[in-house]
Amino acid sequence: MAKTSGSGPIRRRTAILISGRGSNMAALIAAAADPPFPAEIALVVSSRPKAAGLDKAGAAGIETAVADYAAGAMAAEAEIEARLAEHGIDLVCLAGFMRLLSPEFVQRWGDRMINIHPSLLPAFAGLNTHHRALDAGVKLHGCTVHFVRAAMDNGPIIAQAAVPVLDGDTPATLGARVLSAEHILYPKVLALVAAERIRVVNELCVFSNRPPPGDGPGVLVSPPGI
Ligand code: GRF
Repeated sequence: MAKTSGSGPIRRRTAILISGRGSNMAALIAAAADPPFPAEIALVVSSRPKAAGLDKAGAAGIETAVADYAAGAMAAEAEIEARLAEHGIDLVCLAGFMRLLSPEFVQRWGDRMINIHPSLLPAFAGLNTHHRALDAGVKLHGCTVHFVRAAMDNGPIIAQAAVPVLDGDTPATLGARVLSAEHILYPKVLALVAAERIRVVNELCVFSNRPPPGDGPGVLVSPPGI
């Protein structure tokens, strides 16, 4: 549970780092618009001045900033740190942020920074995940939310959502199915992290107060019907 004060639940001040269209960012903003949600989105920072996500964030009334990597990675990262400090940020969500953060930055944010990746890690770290999943012939694909470590797409896995790979899928159709799962998974994970329901022990995630599994099948199988 999120800590409470006399005036209601404490909502942890959260920044989202983006580089592009920002559909995961929009899903997080929408979830956090619900007053009991344990995080508030206080800032969106883009590594690209023209990222479409900046307009979406602005339209939702969220403060935005640009840390332009064209000016050099060190300067851009210093800009990010300055904006995070200025806005009193406590948690950071990477959502399509296409830059590798320095080990020092990652170390400073530790278990207060999470990322979403469009594959079932540790499979298919890096780019072109849907294409590579199809080439590999996997029957389940999906997305992962994890704490961030210095190596790309690495860090304790918090949660994953799986979707079936269907006959005739293209990277685009499979990617759209995964993206829908991302929009469901990421807000759920941010809520868990913000409510301090997850501890990292020996680089593995341990949950507290996890609800018992529901009535669903508990196992995802693809192709359906076998
Ligand atoms: C998502 O697929 C995310 O998993 C990956 O980059 C993509 C960003 O999409 N890290 P969007 O900007 O959130 O729409």
